[in-house]
Amino acid sequence: MPQLSPQATRSLHANTPLLAALLPTCKNLNSARNELRWIREHVWSSTLAPQFQNIPEAKDNDEKSKNALLHRLCSLRGRGYPLQYILGTQPFGQLEIKCRPGVLIPRPETEAWTMHLADIVRKTWRAGKVKKDNDIESNLRILDLCTGSGCIALLLYSILNRKFPKMHVRGLDIEPRAVSLAKENLAYNIERGSLRQRNANAVSFEETNIFSTDWLVPVLEQAGLINNLRFKQSELKRGAVDILVSNPPYISQEGFDRDTEPSVRDHEPRLALVPEPSADNSPYATVLPEDVFYARILDVAKVLQPRFVVLEVGDLAQAVRVVQMARERCRNAKEAEIWRDWPDMKPSEGEPESVDVAGVTVPVRGGGNGRAVFLR
Ligand SMILES: C[S@@+](CC[C@H](N)C(=O)[O-])C[C@H]1O[C@@H](n2cnc3c(N)ncnc32)[C@H](O)[C@@H]1O
Repeated sequence: MPQLSPQATRSLHANTPLLAALLPTCKNLNSARNELRWIREHVWSSTLAPQFQNIPEAKDNDEKSKNALLHRLCSLRGRGYPLQYILGTQPFGQLEIKCRPGVLIPRPETEAWTMHLADIVRKTWRAGKVKKDNDIESNLRILDLCTGSGCIALLLYSILNRKFPKMHVRGLDIEPRAVSLAKENLAYNIERGSLRQRNANAVSFEETNIFSTDWLVPVLEQAGLINNLRFKQSELKRGAVDILVSNPPYISQEGFDRDTEPSVRDHEPRLALVPEPSADNSPYATVLPEDVFYARILDVAKVLQPRFVVLEVGDLAQAVRVVQMARERCRNAKEAEIWRDWPDMKPSEGEPESVDVAGVTVPVRGGGNGRAVFLR
């Protein structure tokens, strides 16, 4: 809560109660003013997010009801309810991603690495850094595990589909509300003209537990690699997907209780942030609970053999563990890089540009906290 003198606080409550309501959550008066403007514009001009459409204040369209609604939303926001759930959307690159309780709000750091990856993909093929590959050029296949709102899958598609006209992006998530929102986000961004789906199957979202195995066989079959799982890695000319991306749950139970902001802890889905504990007989029982998704996804990568993998992580220490795990689990992997929050920025003073992972130097790109591991 910003420090205002008791007199200033009293005057704020008396004269601008809406700002006073927002202040406990906003960092300062300026950000409270901005948020008030956005919420006011939203109440007067847009369709309300579904969770508010049936509240009493939203029944009528007159001035009095609108003001009551504005008060209700500002007071919710002041108690830590996320702004994106109130406004209903969050910009993500050129897209607008719909946000709804039960589905994680896309973060700017995720947007930054997604755009950085898209740039690498474009440059890699444009510069002919890999052998000319007509298959990939016309038919790039991207798999997004733990897709949530679909933000990563949709942004990659929107940036890359001109260069790869027959590309296909598939997003998987265990949470039905996420899958349905991801589909809505596809339709919404087509409707607002920020995304053009070139054919009906170019982008798809499915409800899947990535720890199950049923979904892997069809992916391999679809790639024409097998008609059962008995195949030799050496026979693979091209993997079953070209790019594997994931922002999985990666926070430990203690980290969740201790370090997350109340607005995240109280309002965003725990399922999206904290991995469920592994059963004693699980192949992942010995992995740190917060790293369990990486172990699973790296096992998946071993089977699907993507050209590029990007995994979002919580910090540099987790990035180092993931690089180490990639070495242990995918022997043929791979050149690794660690990306910070803003991979295109210069590092700040004191931010090392490489780390040693079990005797191998791994480059660390950009500025900010460790945010993603890139494997190729
Ligand atoms: C950190 S969120 C990421 C969402 C989105 N990709 C983003 O970047 O905003 C993790 C997602 O993993 C999903 N999830 C959790 N357990 C899963 C599982 N076993 N299989 C598939 N998805 C899972 C959650 O529902 C959530 O949407």
